[in-house]
Amino acid sequence: MRQFLKMNTTLYHDESRQGEALLLDGNQNHKGKKLFLESYGCAMNFSDSEIVASILKDEGFSTTSNFEEADVIFVNTCAIRDNAEQRVRKRLYDYNKAKKKNPDIIIGVLGCMAERLKSKLLEDDKLIDLVVGPDAYRDLPKLLKVAEVGQRAINVLLSKEETYADISPVRLGKNGVSAFVSITRGCDNMCSFCVVPFTRGRERSREPQSIVRETIDLVNNGYKEITLLGQNVDSYLWSGGGLKKESYSEEEIKEAVTFAQLLEMVAIAAPTIRIRFSTSHPKDLNNSVIETIKKYDNICNYIHLPVQSGSSKVLEMMNRGYTREWYLERINKIREIIPDCGISTDIITGFCDETEEDHQETLSLIEESKFNFAYMYSYSERPKTLAERKFKDNVLPEIKSRRLSEIIVQQSAVSLKSNKEDIGKTFKVLVEGVSKKSEGHLSGRTDQNKVVVFPKKNFKEGDFVDVIIEGCTSATLLGVSKL
Ligand code: SAH
Ligand code: SF4
Ligand code: F3S
Repeated sequence: MRQFLKMNTTLYHDESRQGEALLLDGNQNHKGKKLFLESYGCAMNFSDSEIVASILKDEGFSTTSNFEEADVIFVNTCAIRDNAEQRVRKRLYDYNKAKKKNPDIIIGVLGCMAERLKSKLLEDDKLIDLVVGPDAYRDLPKLLKVAEVGQRAINVLLSKEETYADISPVRLGKNGVSAFVSITRGCDNMCSFCVVPFTRGRERSREPQSIVRETIDLVNNGYKEITLLGQNVDSYLWSGGGLKKESYSEEEIKEAVTFAQLLEMVAIAAPTIRIRFSTSHPKDLNNSVIETIKKYDNICNYIHLPVQSGSSKVLEMMNRGYTREWYLERINKIREIIPDCGISTDIITGFCDETEEDHQETLSLIEESKFNFAYMYSYSERPKTLAERKFKDNVLPEIKSRRLSEIIVQQSAVSLKSNKEDIGKTFKVLVEGVSKKSEGHLSGRTDQNKVVVFPKKNFKEGDFVDVIIEGCTSATLLGVSKL
């Protein structure tokens, strides 16, 4: 499984999770109706699904994990790479079969693919009833009513203000240990390869007290770890004067809450749980964020810092706003301030005009940066992006896949080396559940976000356990609990 998220890791993934069969207690217009909700894409999308579940709970829906018994099927989609969209198309084919058996089923496409393709989705697939973009979920009850009288409905308006700050997410994650808390929406960066600015709109920050309240609520409900989410968390900025950064006066910016300050507020408000965040952007990750991580024990020593390429030429074409040297300086700074900080990254191989030399630079940057792990992808051209308009997708597929394999081999070797260095050390592990490979073992994570597997004894999900590391693979640390 590459690039896609297991619920309480960080980041992005191509796999889906289905809505849990939890009973929702609303009793309005749709009492007794069942919702099947499936999510693809990044943590932000999963977090959005929890907002959607909350809005539909208020409508009286309960959720089901079997789409064949659902009244409403929603798929929250991702558009980041072509294969992410193909996966959803296949899934729609399954839903359509259910709808042919029961024409009353309502099928809704939500999220980034809905935003990217808009009404074209309705033209392509005659069985889709609803198309709803990421900023239009408050409109779902109305749109459902339209669909229920047999009309097709669409709302793909993007907003400069919507943060769903007042909506209490229905936690769909299974384990009750880790949860996402959204802090910004949208992205203003315009990396040339990326579709996100088109599917999620302008960046906006969420009011800090609502973030703190949601965190405290999670603590009170027994959660042990939260991940603050945004496409570029380091550019979080809240001024009481309004939501739109570009409209802030100089005075308001001076008064505004920065990401480092927000981290501090959350760390103080929730001293007993682990705090993570994702994603940091190398051009915006500043020293005060790194120092805040160091200052608070409950902020995890872990930063996901996507580099994308080791070549300054490619980085410039990608419009990332930093060079190889800048990136390596940031890595050195992190290591200087927090020597044991876990660092992971994202890499795209085979971007436009990428030469063998550029590729070698990516391989050497992996070696130099000593990433704990990386999510690695072949470049997939996305319609309307800057790269699609300005450059040629001219690295042949076979070259992309050869370079990707070389990058994976290189990163695995670096990960293995990093894991071997942990043998003999003791880590506090937050237990997430039973190991997938063995009933007798538990699986959890260190502060640095490394996965640890160890014999179960009497421990359970949500426990913090001191584990001595005795062995490893490139992906996992193997140990025994101290007690
Ligand atoms: N906001 C985050 C990442 C968002 S998308 C950031 O700026 O780092 C998650 C990852 O998907 C990116 O880091 C990138 O590695 C990958 N990605 C995005 N667009 C892609 C594309 N067109 N082809 C291949 N990978 C892509
Ligand atoms: Fe996409 Fe770049 Fe924004 Fe990340 S920072 S979401 S890669 S445009
Ligand atoms: Fe996330 Fe995919 Fe959208 S990565 S922001 S769900 S395009």
